[in-house]
Amino acid sequence: MDKELVIVLDFGGQYNQLIARRVRECNVYCEVHPYTLGIEKIKEMEPKGIIFTGGPDSVYDDKSPRCGNEILSLGIPVLGICYGSQLMAYLSGGKVATAPVSEFGKTEVNIDTSSVLFQDVSEKIVAWMSHTDYIAEVPEGFRVCATTAVCPVAAMECVERKLYATQFHPEVMHTQDGTKMLSNFVYKVCGCAGTWKMSSFVDEAINSIREKTGNGKVLCALSGGVDSSVAAVLMSKAVGKQLTCVFVDHGLLRKNEGDEVEAVFGPEGPYDLNFIRVNCQERFYRKLKGITEPEQKRKIIGEEFIRVFEEEAKKIGAVDFLVQGTIYPDVIESGLGKSAVIKSHHNVGGLPDCVDFKEIIEPLRMLFKDEVRKAGIELGIPENLVFRQPFPGPGLGIRIIGEVTSEKCHIVQDADAIYREEIANAGLDKGLGQYFAALTNMRSVGVMGDYRTYDYAVVLRAVNTSDFMTAEPAQIPWNVLGKVASRIVNEVKGVNRVLYDCTGKPPATIELE
Ligand code: XMP
Repeated sequence: MDKELVIVLDFGGQYNQLIARRVRECNVYCEVHPYTLGIEKIKEMEPKGIIFTGGPDSVYDDKSPRCGNEILSLGIPVLGICYGSQLMAYLSGGKVATAPVSEFGKTEVNIDTSSVLFQDVSEKIVAWMSHTDYIAEVPEGFRVCATTAVCPVAAMECVERKLYATQFHPEVMHTQDGTKMLSNFVYKVCGCAGTWKMSSFVDEAINSIREKTGNGKVLCALSGGVDSSVAAVLMSKAVGKQLTCVFVDHGLLRKNEGDEVEAVFGPEGPYDLNFIRVNCQERFYRKLKGITEPEQKRKIIGEEFIRVFEEEAKKIGAVDFLVQGTIYPDVIESGLGKSAVIKSHHNVGGLPDCVDFKEIIEPLRMLFKDEVRKAGIELGIPENLVFRQPFPGPGLGIRIIGEVTSEKCHIVQDADAIYREEIANAGLDKGLGQYFAALTNMRSVGVMGDYRTYDYAVVLRAVNTSDFMTAEPAQIPWNVLGKVASRIVNEVKGVNRVLYDCTGKPPATIELE
């Protein structure tokens, strides 16, 4: 792999992976590491640049995350962002204090465009701020290169030492010209050539998987969704027939999905894989009987998945490694960083405490969904598979509010199949981030053919999103919704009402549970 590397040192900020992703968008490979990485390790990695992330702490707090100031004297360019900028000021002898006025959200910033960080950036921009402390005095040798009405040091630089800092977040889309600033940093300050491509990620991942697994047997948890399919093909390229893909049909899949997955990855499909389909619908329904709390459902499904994999691994014998298609939003929303738990994604926070494998390999853990898709294309996976609708591991278990039963699964499968068919007929399928039908636990009164009905309400959801961390409700034409609603109530027994979900993320999430 190309040696050009930028390291993001994570001080607990929410956007740490977003920074890495923006740098990768500049065709420079970037990895996130904990702030404790250590100077020797950093020297060994020979990064072209280092970025300090934001974080919730105050540099004056004894327990605040800090690195030694020798990092600033290695001659490697450093960009500090938010908390990272305050840390740079603090470590270099500047003054950080509680700001008289905190700034949160979109803020107007005056930019000194003579700074190389701000080349081709407008003189007045709107940037994303989120801070209660600020740099009150820049350290010796630094100069101020951006201000706001209430923040005297919105950015500072020490050109000789290649040290740069912004109080605002250039990585966030709301910051105008933010990507330009990051590209100025990596190209003009760090001197990167920008030769990295997703193919380099694929090659590097294959090499490191081979190194890690040696001759060991590997089991891949395949759901047929985009992420686990990309992980499976990547693993198969890396370790060939040492790999067995296990596809668990837990009865919570979309209509006909079990057979569709088998058609692609099974013996009749284009891949030369060891493929096992485990049909265990009743087992999952039994475990979920009477359970209504979403986190509990997720944990039960996550645990049962692992138990099935363990059983299959025992049958194969001496399997050391379990591979999962975990991607970055799964990690962050499961609260495995410092962020709060939103929901336990079945393949991360939903894992039981004890897992009978030597190691879990998650080759896509650092990537966002659209990056995973790029990796899929690099791996030669057909576009119709790579651009499939995302489908969560816990499946319909989290698209049925309240208790899951086989009857409810059939209702939501049929409603969802109609919705997907009509969305495709209307030519809307390619333009939407994610769309599906879910089942509420609400029953309401209706009238059908002179009879009173007391049946379930189906919710239709469609969102536009690229990173799945935030999403906008999609504006589906009324005539399409009307047709879907009419087909669902007419064709799906047990449903007499259809609702459309108009909420974005936040405040809602994409899935209902
Ligand atoms: P939410 O509902 O958290 O979903 O806004 C964001 C994206 O993640 C998918 N999702 C999951 N994927 N395991 C997965 O593999 C899970 O437990 C899980 N929960 C949500 C969801 O479909 C959406 O694409």
